[in-house]
Amino acid sequence: MKIGFIGIGHMGEGMARNLMQAGHQLTIYNRTRSKTERLRAEGAAVADSPAQAAAAAEVLITMLADDDAVGAAVLNGYPGQPPAIEGLQRDAIHMCTSTISVAMSRELEAAHKPRGQQYVASPVLGRPEAAAQRQLWLIAAGPQPAVERCRPILEALGRGFSVVASEPWKANLMKLGVNFMLASLLESIGEAFALVEKAGADVRQFLEVMNNGTFRSPLVENYGNRIIEKRYEPAGFSMRLGFKDVRLAMQSAIEETVPMPLTGLLSDHYLHALAHGHGELDWSAIAEVSRQAAGLTKTLRAGG
Ligand SMILES: NC(=O)c1ccc[n+]([C@@H]2O[C@H](COP(=O)([O-])OP(=O)(O)OC[C@H]3O[C@@H](n4cnc5c(N)ncnc54)[C@H](OP(=O)(O)O)[C@@H]3O)[C@@H](O)[C@H]2O)c1
Repeated sequence: MKIGFIGIGHMGEGMARNLMQAGHQLTIYNRTRSKTERLRAEGAAVADSPAQAAAAAEVLITMLADDDAVGAAVLNGYPGQPPAIEGLQRDAIHMCTSTISVAMSRELEAAHKPRGQQYVASPVLGRPEAAAQRQLWLIAAGPQPAVERCRPILEALGRGFSVVASEPWKANLMKLGVNFMLASLLESIGEAFALVEKAGADVRQFLEVMNNGTFRSPLVENYGNRIIEKRYEPAGFSMRLGFKDVRLAMQSAIEETVPMPLTGLLSDHYLHALAHGHGELDWSAIAEVSRQAAGLTKTLRAGG
């Protein structure tokens, strides 16, 4: 299949590589062109604009940071570089894999429709390592025939996928729900670790006890060890993007009139980290906000 791919970041690079390895023909675009070098050397064509990446594509995949990035690349373009929507053929599909707002997903659907283009939302679960190893889980939603046409792509990108609705925004809402739960889990691990550490008990033993005895989750184990070892750099998923997702969950909660008080607390803690210049640390460094509040550290950086 001819695929356009925009957004060669932490997630996008591994995803694009897996598509190439599955035999698809890729034309890629990234705002910072140097990040396309490795894939170019492996056989991808590199486009000069988002529109050019979209032009020959049966499916255009975007894996961009946030609403603004998707808006710029797909709807508005850059100076001298037309947006993807102007290049995408009639009946071609835009499959948006970013974690974006429900509102942005609706805007994309509305923008593609009058041009006869299809829109499928397919946000992903899993970190960059999972993306590289084809271990993502994808949440797909869109008109059934369009989702069906995306099946070979969904299969090439991960270990499985759920088709959740014909309305694309529902996939985005579910993704935000999952990330809200993950952020809440990291926050509670951080608070409990701070308590155990300050009281003088052994945090490693605490992790062993809580995971063997209660959670039995590789997620808890991996994040717990990452926090204990303060492996916050390089980030797999940054504080900056974690804050975005908490904020988007809060935005949906307001739109649907659903009190979600934890979103307020989480948002303040991410803001604290961002205010101290730690937006590029891994989001598990949120545990350091609790350590700092407990007087256990002065800085959120590892070794501080
Ligand atoms: N990392 C994870 O663990 C993870 C897991 C699941 C889902 N996600 C979601 O996947 C998406 C990508 O995450 P990531 O970790 O791959 O992010 P990333 O490494 O920061 O990459 C972001 C991509 O967006 C581009 N971008 C950012 N702002 C832009 C703008 N204003 N205009 C055009 N392009 C822009 C970047 O281009 P440049 O190279 O030019 O900066 C880069 O290609 C996000 O929505 C994230 O929430 C991430």
